[in-house]
Amino acid sequence: MTNDYILHLEGVGKTFQTKNGKSIKAVQQVDLDVRENDFVCIVGPSGCGKSTLLRMVSGLEPITFGQVVYHGQEITRPRKEIGMVFQEYSLLPWRTVIDNVALGPEFAGISKKERETRAMNYLRLVGMEAFARAHPHELSGGMRQRVAIVRALANDPDLLLMDEPFGALDAHTRILLQKELLRIWEQHRKTVLFVTHGVDEAIYLADRIVVMSARPGRIIETILVEMDRPRERSHPRYGHLAEQILAILEKEAAQNFSKNGNILEEPF
Ligand SMILES: Nc1ncnc2c1ncn2[C@@H]1O[C@H](COP(=O)(O)OP(=O)(O)O)[C@@H](O)[C@H]1O
Ligand SMILES: [Mg+2]
Repeated sequence: MTNDYILHLEGVGKTFQTKNGKSIKAVQQVDLDVRENDFVCIVGPSGCGKSTLLRMVSGLEPITFGQVVYHGQEITRPRKEIGMVFQEYSLLPWRTVIDNVALGPEFAGISKKERETRAMNYLRLVGMEAFARAHPHELSGGMRQRVAIVRALANDPDLLLMDEPFGALDAHTRILLQKELLRIWEQHRKTVLFVTHGVDEAIYLADRIVVMSARPGRIIETILVEMDRPRERSHPRYGHLAEQILAILEKEAAQNFSKNGNILEEPF
């Protein structure tokens, strides 16, 4: 591996063992290289193993096959340099907004004054400083996700893993936060690995889109977006890429249908 890549996945796979002794192959044979400052989106059908893959990269989920290497070191547990943002419910409800954002610095032993200053700066970055003393239940979904993003940033991670972070938001808020995320990414030069089932969202955000198969999730195609930012959704290439990716996903769904007779997940 060259030092060019900060993240290197080789033959990564996951098989879950369920309580009744069944094996569920969630992810299979994933090879992926991510460079510093890359914005990579992973799209794929629901249940194909996207969250499982991201959790393996984060060190939260043990890996069954292959390895995840970050800056030359195998990932076996969560690390400070890798931040994670989930779809929802990731804020601690009993803590105020500022105390949520200051959580990482608090664990790192940073003084109250300094961590509050740092948290406030991050809250300002997403226009949330007026809500510093509010609790998560007092915020809208979009506000909560803004806080979740800056909470991850407050640990100053190099790599940000995001699992459908805007999936539960209304269309308008989602578009606003996509813009905001790109602004933060450009300003802070993070590397982002972003899972979404939204093809439109992937084309708006990514340098590179990785398309996964139905479960067990494999990478079936990698697409370079190659459009300047900010991207216009009315640009012909935008529509062309969307068609291309949707065609891959449709073909995959059809194959899965003929293979399994249905496209529903197996109960377990
Ligand atoms: N802890 C677990 N135990 C057993 N099966 C799991 C577990 N977590 C996920 N799975 C299964 O792995 C597959 C992939 O899940 P997931 O990674 O959540 O998919 P996605 O994020 O693409 O929707 C699904 O079939 C899911 O039911
Ligand atoms: Mg998921």
